Amino acid sequence: MPSYPPEPFRIKMVEPIRLIGREAREAALKAAGYNVFGLRAEDVFVDLLTDSGTGAMSQHQWAAMMAGDESYAGARSYFRLAEAVKAIFGFRFFMPTHQGRAAENILSALLVKDGQYVPSNMHFDTTFANIRARGGRPANLVIAEADDPANRHPFKGNMDIERLRAFIEEVGRAAIPFGMITVTNNAGGGQPVSMENLRQTAAVYREFGIPFFIDACRYAENAYFIKLREPGYADKSPLEIAREMFALADGATMSAKKDAIVNIGGFLAMNDETLYQQACNELILREGFPTYGGLAGRDLDAIAAGLWEGLDEAYLAYRLGQTAYLAERLMEMGIPIIEPPGGHAVYLDAGRLLPRIPQSAFPGQALAVELYREGGVRGVEIGSVMFAHPSPETGVMVYPSLELVRLAIPRRVYTQSHLDYVAETLAKIKARRDGVRGYKFTYAPKLLRHFTARFEPLGG
Ligand code: F0G
Repeated sequence: MPSYPPEPFRIKMVEPIRLIGREAREAALKAAGYNVFGLRAEDVFVDLLTDSGTGAMSQHQWAAMMAGDESYAGARSYFRLAEAVKAIFGFRFFMPTHQGRAAENILSALLVKDGQYVPSNMHFDTTFANIRARGGRPANLVIAEADDPANRHPFKGNMDIERLRAFIEEVGRAAIPFGMITVTNNAGGGQPVSMENLRQTAAVYREFGIPFFIDACRYAENAYFIKLREPGYADKSPLEIAREMFALADGATMSAKKDAIVNIGGFLAMNDETLYQQACNELILREGFPTYGGLAGRDLDAIAAGLWEGLDEAYLAYRLGQTAYLAERLMEMGIPIIEPPGGHAVYLDAGRLLPRIPQSAFPGQALAVELYREGGVRGVEIGSVMFAHPSPETGVMVYPSLELVRLAIPRRVYTQSHLDYVAETLAKIKARRDGVRGYKFTYAPKLLRHFTARFEPLGG
């Protein structure tokens, strides 16, 4: 087994966690309607539900928070954040938002008209839902390799450039208010997008005059993958690579809860002044004044510090190494995962681990439940519960190509022995997998149903 870089930090504050007993876990599952989003966090032992907002801030970030300026307008905190955003992202305008989805909402509210299309490699679920909520149609045009869990393509998050061009020609430029790409591609396994592919994507959008927005949540991890894997980038810093990425786009939506290592926050950035002015009005209506955008001044300072820390090479080497370590251990145990592992998470291939459960009975959901039942570990289903939907044309259910469970690793939070524990929990589930049952909905809202749906195990 290769060795991975040790943590470039030491721990000076701890948060106790505990594993509750098997019967208590069973009762907790039942009370939660077999939806792990419904569990109380204190009943979870190792929480890999998300890497979003769950990171551990550094002493510098906590110190920066103490210097937060809580002025309603023109706070110093805003200008410190503006400086970091300008230096890294380079766009002419930006505004803080309380999360990434608030930025997506503003963009969709302003630009998406009923029946219009927004192409991307793959939209994350909140982006998908924000576009759909405005009557739009999100389109996922990732390369075909992304659907093959065993294909070790180094940039499995890449846009399929031919498909993108064909798609634009088919629906017509006028039906596309803006185009996107997600780095790294969370919904497709946390897989990176290459600089070359970003360049080609930007060129196609530019050719048709379509504004290009990057969903930038995990931009630093993407930049580090480019450094590691793309010829010509080995000697460039993650900062230089990030700048090169964003120079290709017209704007970005950002959830700072990921690579800016904060517990809340995000922003929307763009070059177009008219769009910026319209976005400010929308922001004031729903989020707050443009220099705070729904956040406290101290939050802005924490983001500003975190944006820099997220680009630190020693941190990124440890970060990607931790994910690779968990993936390695799982592969040794014969647990099917998406290969190669992504940046922020390991994606278990529940479809292959539980082949007896059909998509309509939610194998990913079943595995997420078993992880908690077996070891108090919480992951998240990224499969049919999240994505299956009736086709707008025919009403027939459209199922995603993969049934996954994501084990997202919070930043700077868990140690290698936590990850060993997770791997051992999965080995126990694998040993009794033939007895694992599927699920059916007892309640499911129309949009973003995975958050609040309730389930019942199928008999058998
Ligand atoms: N885009 C991507 C690629 C994301 O992963 C997320 C959030 C968002 C946008 C929305 O950002 O949560 O700040 O509103 N992903 C979290 C996750 C929820 O668990 O992957 P947000």
